Amino acid sequence: MSWQQISCEKETRQAPAGLIRLGSPDQLDWEPYLGKVSCVYIDPPFYTGELFNFNQRVGEDGWKTGKRTLRLEAYSDRFETREAYLALIRMLAATARKLLSDAGALFVHVDTREDAHVRLLLDDMFNERNFVNQLIWAYQSGGRSLKHFSRKHDVIFFYRKTGKLHFDITHVPIPRDENRQNHMRRTVDENGRPCRTIRSGGKTYVYYDDDPVYPSDVWADVSHLQQKDPQRTGYDTQKPESLLRRVLLPVTEPGDIVADLCCGSGTTAVAAALTGRRFLVSDSGKPAVSVTRKRLVSQGIPFDLEAPCEKTPARASLRQFPGIAYIDVCLDDFAPLAPWPDGITGLDGVDQWSIGWLKDGVFLAQADAARTQKTPALARTLQMPLLSGAPAALITDILGNRYCFVWRE
Ligand SMILES: C[S@@+](CC[C@H](N)C(=O)[O-])C[C@H]1O[C@@H](n2cnc3c(N)ncnc32)[C@H](O)[C@@H]1O
Repeated sequence: MSWQQISCEKETRQAPAGLIRLGSPDQLDWEPYLGKVSCVYIDPPFYTGELFNFNQRVGEDGWKTGKRTLRLEAYSDRFETREAYLALIRMLAATARKLLSDAGALFVHVDTREDAHVRLLLDDMFNERNFVNQLIWAYQSGGRSLKHFSRKHDVIFFYRKTGKLHFDITHVPIPRDENRQNHMRRTVDENGRPCRTIRSGGKTYVYYDDDPVYPSDVWADVSHLQQKDPQRTGYDTQKPESLLRRVLLPVTEPGDIVADLCCGSGTTAVAAALTGRRFLVSDSGKPAVSVTRKRLVSQGIPFDLEAPCEKTPARASLRQFPGIAYIDVCLDDFAPLAPWPDGITGLDGVDQWSIGWLKDGVFLAQADAARTQKTPALARTLQMPLLSGAPAALITDILGNRYCFVWRE
């Protein structure tokens, strides 16, 4: 009778709001989702030639003070040639096209380096008559150039799959911009309702003060994440949840599926779940899957996750205490075969862990612990109700590696 390390490919929870998957879209099987997705958002590498990082805080101290941090490579944005970069975009867009329903919408987020090339490619793949908008996300972020106008906007291409696009802009009302209406005449109509009027081309246009206002294709009202924003996960290139809400709300209804094939820190999954949509998100990087998982766990959003656990042997000191209706599992120590960098040892190397039941090779999660700024200390004992199956523990380390252990009688 002992805790034994096993390989497990899937974890699940009751009433999941969506699925997280590890892998490049061309290596994953999308068969069950083909034609079922209402919105695909893709925020791929931008062909910057840079390496992007994930700042992983370490241990209770690191989470309390932010001073003990490991700088891990999140993903590489280096491509040998433009053709190699565009091959990635083509693969992502081809997967998106297969996933989308006829009423579905695709959003591809790039910047001004490659936007022209990506636009031509998408026109070709989706047909230019299905191009809907070039959205400009204009933001204020640090750094100003004196050599040219500062580059302070991204481009998001919006395509429909077919002419049956579902689009309801009333899902995204915005506050009225008082400054933009200063040139209009303030008045009241015959019923005393305040409005502003303007004459143009021989016609008088009337805008009521209490009429809802909707965004145009230039979004200057969606703020970039500030340094101290509580949404920040430490994952470079993380986008704000408000941007994703603006993208997905007009093209989806509650219950619809929103996909993101380069999910990074999981912004799309959170935005979808918090607005009652389901999510289907994937990324080829372990740090991305690990951050996304933690974001969902810490917000109490149930999910399924598909990613293989490590097969290299690791040592976990686990103890279990069965009660009448519940069982407690205690994690005392953990060490992978290859040591972590910077002399990190023991539970300092553990970022998240969960307990649950193993059934037919699937981990049914029952209780979770994760280090966050709110909970810097990792709970060492977790409790779960007694169910049938074998008690199991799933440990995610600071590198995003996942290890599964099961109690074998
Ligand atoms: C700009 S980031 C996405 C950031 C994300 N929108 C967020 O809010 O955190 C791009 C992501 O693409 C992922 N990526 C790069 N190549 C990929 C591939 N072939 N398949 C899937 N994801 C890939 C990277 O791992 C990275 O997380």
